[in-house]
Order: sequence, then C-alpha cells, then structure tokens
Amino acid sequence: MSTWDTLGAVKTSLTGIKPTHLPHLGNYLGAIRPALSLVDRYRTLYFIANYHALTTVRDAEKLRDYVRDVAATWLACGLDPERTLLYRQSDVPEVFELTWVLSCLLAKGQLERGHAYKEALVRGDSPNAGLFNYPVLMAADILLYDTDVVPIGKDQKQHLELTRDVALRLNHTYGENTLVVPEALITEAPLVPGTDGEKMSKSRGNGIPLFESTKKLRKVIMGITTTSETLEDPKTAEGSTVYELYKLVAPERAPEMGQKLEAGGYGWGHAKQDLYEAIEAEIGPKRDAYLEIRADEPKLDAILSDGAAKARTIAHATIQRVRDAVGIG
Ligand code: TRP
Repeated sequence: MSTWDTLGAVKTSLTGIKPTHLPHLGNYLGAIRPALSLVDRYRTLYFIANYHALTTVRDAEKLRDYVRDVAATWLACGLDPERTLLYRQSDVPEVFELTWVLSCLLAKGQLERGHAYKEALVRGDSPNAGLFNYPVLMAADILLYDTDVVPIGKDQKQHLELTRDVALRLNHTYGENTLVVPEALITEAPLVPGTDGEKMSKSRGNGIPLFESTKKLRKVIMGITTTSETLEDPKTAEGSTVYELYKLVAPERAPEMGQKLEAGGYGWGHAKQDLYEAIEAEIGPKRDAYLEIRADEPKLDAILSDGAAKARTIAHATIQRVRDAVGIG
C-alpha cells in the first residue's frame, strides 16, 4: 500500500466538499462513497471548502461545527489521512492570491453566465458578490494543487470548464507550463432519493440521517412516502423510493426484494424494515467510528492541520511559479 509521499508518479485528483450541513445518507451514497473509491487510482486531495460555504452559512458556530462534522464523516467512512490529504480550504490562504490573479484574466461576462448566479437572479434573489465570484475561488482551489482530474457531478461541469479556460489563458499569456490544466472526471453519482422520492437534499428536508441514532434513522425510514396498496397487493418495485434506496445499499439482495414486492404478501412496512436493516449494517460501524472521531476535536484538528501543511508545500510552489510568470515578486 502506498502512502501519500510515495505516490509521486500518479495523477492527482482533487475533491472539494462544501460544509453547509450535517452530511446525510444521500451525501454518503452519492458523493462520499464514490469519491473514496478513487484513492487506489489517484493521488487524492480532499478539502473542506469553508470559504465557499460562507456564501450561504451565516452562523459562525455552525460553520465551525459543519467543518468538523464533514471531516469526521469522511474519516469515519474510510478516508485514510496517511494515504490522502484532508485539509481545510482556509488553512491554505495562498488560494486567495491565485484567485485574484485568475480573476484578472477572466471576462466578467463568463461569471455572469454562471449557472448558480443566473439561477439566483431568476429566483429574484440579490446574490452576494461571493456567489458571483464563487467559480474563481473554485478554479483557484483546483489550479493551486497541480490537479490532473476533478471528479464532479454534471452540476459542476460549467465550473470546471471555466477553470480550464482560465488556466489555458494564463498559460497562453504567461508561459505554457505555469499551470496544470485539469480535466473533469464526470462521475456517475447515483441519484439518491429522499423520503419524499425527490433527490435527497438538505434544503428539501427529505434527508435520511447518516450518523444520528438508530431510533431516528428507523423513524425516518418508516416515514418514507409509498403508494397505498394493501399488504397482499402486488407492488411496483422499480421507481419506488424504498426499492431504489435498497438497490444502492444492498445491490446483491435487491432482486429478492423486487420479487417479493411484485409477488404481493410483502408490505411496504416489511420493505422499509429490510431497508433499515441494510442501511444500519452498512453505516452502523461507521457511526461508531464517527462518534469517536468527532468527540476528539484536538485530534481531528491535528489531522486537518497535517493535511494543510502538506497541501501548502504544493501551493507554495504553484504560487511561486505564478508570481514569477505574471511579474509579481
Ligand atoms: N462547488 C463544489 C460543490 O458545490 C465544491 C467545491 C469548491 C469544489 N471548490 C471545489 C469541488 C474544487 C471540486 C473542486 O460541490
């Protein structure tokens, strides 16, 4: 098994995680589990984008908590700090220096075409300048670490295109080898339905908790919306929230549940109980790990600082190249 320092020749992959809420089951199945599967193929960096969260989170205590909740969650789910880097975005302030340089090369119009910004305008919000500039900070996050690939869902594709554009422009203007131009690794992150059948999201309030008590977990699962057949009726498995979740959690046993539902004599309550047991089998041990890691803040902070120290070495080298290239310093 290789450790971070011996991974020199391997391509670098970078994942940014926005700490805006306590992670839910959808984050685990849709983002954390797929992202951690990259560790064997890439030199991986994971960072907690707390400055990005500041565009929406307005409670200092909560933000501090979310950062640790997220870090502890990823560690509990198997992120190994010996083999990867895990750090807080804010612990590497060099990112702002690069943000500024990049913003001077970006056309304002390109930011005006940003999906998130445009959607905010359509909703009638008056977006803050942080939201407007969000993609530039994200580009700096990526370019600062000589990132080769960025695993992202479709929703982040535009951000990655902008990152590539600005990197190419900087290289073209100041010297071809100044920045590594990254590629998107579009991940087939599964769509994880929440209790109401819509995509699980914090803002919809349809989340299934990841590391809250088993009692709470069971209660939320029992509350999943289903159709209203009787126990005896045959049911349509495909497309039902319970079955779709079961497929993600226990794929090898899903055909069996599908058959039982379709045969009749197996109620939604039974299916929910089976779903609950499958989820608990998968996350129970991780919950124990989470509670232990989360309770030891000094140790958690030390892991994050260690990651940041290593990340800063890479960041320093990039910033030095950029400064030299653009004529600063
Ligand atoms: N914008 C990403 C999201 O909302 C989070 C993020 C910030 C990110 N910086 C990044 C992701 C850099 C990948 C690389 O999910």
